[in-house]
Amino acid sequence: MLEQPIINIWGSKVALGPVRREHLPLFHAWENDFEVTRTLNIGIRPRTWEAHEEWYRQVSQNSSVEVFFTIYDRATLQPIGHTDLNRISQVDGRCEFGIMIGDKRYWNRGFGTETVALMLDYGFNALNMYTILLRVFSYNERAVKVYERVGFKTIGRWRGGHRIANQSFDVIFMDCIAPEFNSLGLQRILLDPGSQWEHAPH
Ligand SMILES: CC(C)(COP(=O)(O)OP(=O)(O)OC[C@H]1O[C@@H](n2cnc3c(N)ncnc32)[C@H](O)[C@@H]1OP(=O)(O)O)[C@@H](O)C(=O)NCCC(=O)NCCS
Repeated sequence: MLEQPIINIWGSKVALGPVRREHLPLFHAWENDFEVTRTLNIGIRPRTWEAHEEWYRQVSQNSSVEVFFTIYDRATLQPIGHTDLNRISQVDGRCEFGIMIGDKRYWNRGFGTETVALMLDYGFNALNMYTILLRVFSYNERAVKVYERVGFKTIGRWRGGHRIANQSFDVIFMDCIAPEFNSLGLQRILLDPGSQWEHAPH
């Protein structure tokens, strides 16, 4: 059993915190599950432990161009996936979004929707981004639904830009800009240090 993880952001269903070395075997299993990786831009292929460790070495460096969180089930504090903002440009106020709920038992239960919203809140209010971009494969209808629900808008399609199962699909580009997003609470917390996360344990 893991000791109590550190949490940075509390939602009602999920909590987000720094990645931990102990999560590596879990992440490694998810990233070798083709049912999970079929909708990700990491290729459908075996991923070795060595490559996985190298990936961890990079994401654990507190890089200025990438911020990475473990996603936890808020109720049990079990890790269920990870999410990130990458290609961060502070000069242009832009970055890109990524998410993987690797534990399939948590799909379709609202965990992704809340995670995406909390990450937009973090991107706009902690990183001061103006615009956040994502790419999603057109057959990933579940993800498109989540992104639209949280406030992303489709800004273009790369026609036939992705192939899987010997068929071509579009890559959909979506963005969300700061003026179109209402903070879930991070803005209040950052401006008023005395205030608490609404869903933090008391
Ligand atoms: C995509 C992902 C983040 C979504 O998170 P989630 O927790 O499963 O999604 P939610 O439960 O918040 O919402 C899913 C919604 O899509 C709906 N949905 C599910 N399958 C669907 C489909 N094939 N077509 C249309 N809608 C679908 C669900 O019914 C739900 O809507 P509802 O709440 O109105 O019922 C998560 O499933 C995941 O990480 N998948 C694997 C990796 C991945 O695809 N990452 C994104 C790459 S761009």
